[in-house]
Amino acid sequence: MRFSSALFLASILAVTSSHGVHNSINDDRSATYLSNPSVPSRLDRRAASSDPVQIALAHFKTVSPSATLRSNGDSYTSDDSGITHVYLTQTHNGLDIINAQGNVNIKNGKVVSSGNSLVNGKINAPAPVRRATIIDPLEALKGAIQKMGYDLDVTQARAVQDGFSTMRTAGGAKNYRIEGAKGAVEDPKAELVYYQTATGEVKLAWKLTTDLDESYMLTYANANVAGDILGAANLVSEAQYNVYPLGVNDPSDGKRVLLTDPANESASPRGWHDDGTTKYTDTRGNNGRAQENWDGTPDWENNHCAEGGEKQVFNFPYDPKAHITNTTEARGYIDAALSQLFYTSNIYHDFLEVLGFTEAAGNFEELNSGSLGMGGDAVQLNAQDGSGMNNANFMTPPDGQRPRMRMYLWNSTEIITDGDFDNGIILHDNRLTGGPARTDCLYTIEAGGMGEGWSDFFPTALRIKPGDNRKTNYAMGDWANGVGIRPHPYSTDMKVNPTTYSWIGPNSTYWKVHPVGHVWATMLYDLMWNLEDKFGYSPNPFPTFRKNTRIPKHGRHLAMKLVLEGMKLQPCFPTFLTARDAIVDADYQLTGGENACEIWSAFAKRGLGVDARTEGNDKIDGFKMPEKLKCHNKNYEVETQH
Ligand SMILES: *[C@@H]1O[C@H](CO)[C@@H](O)[C@H](O)[C@H]1NC(C)=O
Ligand SMILES: *[C@@H]1O[C@H](CO)[C@@H](O)[C@H](O)[C@H]1NC(C)=O
Ligand SMILES: *[C@@H]1O[C@H](CO)[C@@H](O)[C@H](O)[C@H]1NC(C)=O
Ligand SMILES: *[C@@H]1O[C@H](CO)[C@@H](O)[C@H](O)[C@H]1NC(C)=O
Repeated sequence: MRFSSALFLASILAVTSSHGVHNSINDDRSATYLSNPSVPSRLDRRAASSDPVQIALAHFKTVSPSATLRSNGDSYTSDDSGITHVYLTQTHNGLDIINAQGNVNIKNGKVVSSGNSLVNGKINAPAPVRRATIIDPLEALKGAIQKMGYDLDVTQARAVQDGFSTMRTAGGAKNYRIEGAKGAVEDPKAELVYYQTATGEVKLAWKLTTDLDESYMLTYANANVAGDILGAANLVSEAQYNVYPLGVNDPSDGKRVLLTDPANESASPRGWHDDGTTKYTDTRGNNGRAQENWDGTPDWENNHCAEGGEKQVFNFPYDPKAHITNTTEARGYIDAALSQLFYTSNIYHDFLEVLGFTEAAGNFEELNSGSLGMGGDAVQLNAQDGSGMNNANFMTPPDGQRPRMRMYLWNSTEIITDGDFDNGIILHDNRLTGGPARTDCLYTIEAGGMGEGWSDFFPTALRIKPGDNRKTNYAMGDWANGVGIRPHPYSTDMKVNPTTYSWIGPNSTYWKVHPVGHVWATMLYDLMWNLEDKFGYSPNPFPTFRKNTRIPKHGRHLAMKLVLEGMKLQPCFPTFLTARDAIVDADYQLTGGENACEIWSAFAKRGLGVDARTEGNDKIDGFKMPEKLKCHNKNYEVETQH
């Protein structure tokens, strides 16, 4: 089997456009921006405070003396630049003015630059005091429903004051809730605000927020003129997927969640459904095309894809407890299976890209001489493929056609399970992204076995949960077939998983790619827990990085990063010995070698210490740490006792 990791990662290199604001009926308005404004000396003295918000407020006292501003409370300091970004909203009569914002960038207590869209001059908008001229919030919502066509029934609804409000108009409060609206996920809300129009006029308005499930509408309705909609935006901007999210391995491991816009904006700037030529509304896109292949034949182009419609909503029924006993019945939830397969393949692509799998282009050109370009080479993802059972596979046809992944149904348990819902199996076989190693360098048993091992390790590291620790064991594929598809679970416990380097000798029953991979992934699992114990856990499957670096902050992410970087360093036809050394080197390059103890002790525990060796064909365990290394951490001192 050949691996084709490079193909579709190469396609992201040509991406240029971005997606961001959606469905807004607002016009493009621009704010003024002051780069390196000359800071008046008067301000310097006044802004002696080191509080960035105070500095920002003082700054606008000179830029726009008549404006009243409040902090949005969401200022933050950028790791990369050390600049603190402060955001302010203009207010009038105690109400926010929508579209009247200021932002100030501050470094070392000094204003670096600022921008604003504040109201120029005197504000002539009506005061929020004369009840008679202010439309009731329910009437404002009715106007919005009529003008915007929202699928919402408010004939039985009434407006009630919402929570404690410090601002009281003459006739009532500032905040309302609309009780009894049919069609909304929760009660619509109304807040009295001012709204700055594109021409700079300021109007009293009701800010209406309505969660209609498939869309989350923010509407600004003129509070003085019935039916006058000043602005609207759909906050549910892009695709939604009802899936087991990355981190939930399978239906026994957690629940499906309706995710909105899960694509990472930097790894997939155009989202997942746009291949550069066509913007699909179904499970096709630049990274992969997911369709059923019930008849198991090579024809697939016209097979059914899950359709998300204009709004790209992939929310299809699936009941993991349903007693499915034949494969025909399983077809009833094909759209949910396709959504999952499409989601998992794409999110894993984004994940690896963020983690630093950027060598793709080189590999790609080397292997495919540039003939497989953009767009049309998305991987073929077959759900419920009829050509087999109880497995999954990935292959690249020798003639350079698009790579193909086949996911099968499983009948090894009492009920039929569907590999399309086992993220571990999808990720394992997703070599398009899961095989960052040079694809032409893995066809020996030892090297190919490590390819399998990496493909077990990444999904396993991704399923680590809050509260797990080094005593937690995970079996691969245990939901699909009931017991797991490897000889042992992944475990740091030598009694649960006793495998060591010597197990893979060519005379052993382990001398096949999957068992060899099992031993390699076991070593990496030990390594991961050594780093988890040192750096801690983050529940987010996506890594966060140390300031100004690409070094992941948390244990499992750092482990995945070191493994990934090791793959880039290792020679062609890697062996356990060279791959181990490449991981040690990767740590040296990335961190200056601060994790040498954690890395070596994991390998030494599993017989891949400095004295491990091959003699003829045999693999000889070695449990020694490098002599010069001084390691003091209790955790792995205990572990390295043999
Ligand atoms: C599959 O199961 C369904 C429902 O139990 C049944 O109606 C159908 O005949 C079965 N099909 C086959 C091919 O056994
Ligand atoms: C997307 O990836 C970038 C790093 O490339 C990261 O900074 C950002 O937080 C990610 N976004 C999400 C939503 O995870
Ligand atoms: C599972 O499916 C295969 C292929 O259709 C069949 O040969 C086998 O008998 C089935 N096993 C069970 C337990 O139903
Ligand atoms: C492995 O098998 C070869 C060939 O059968 C044999 O010569 C060799 O002694 C075996 N090695 C071990 C350690 O059993």
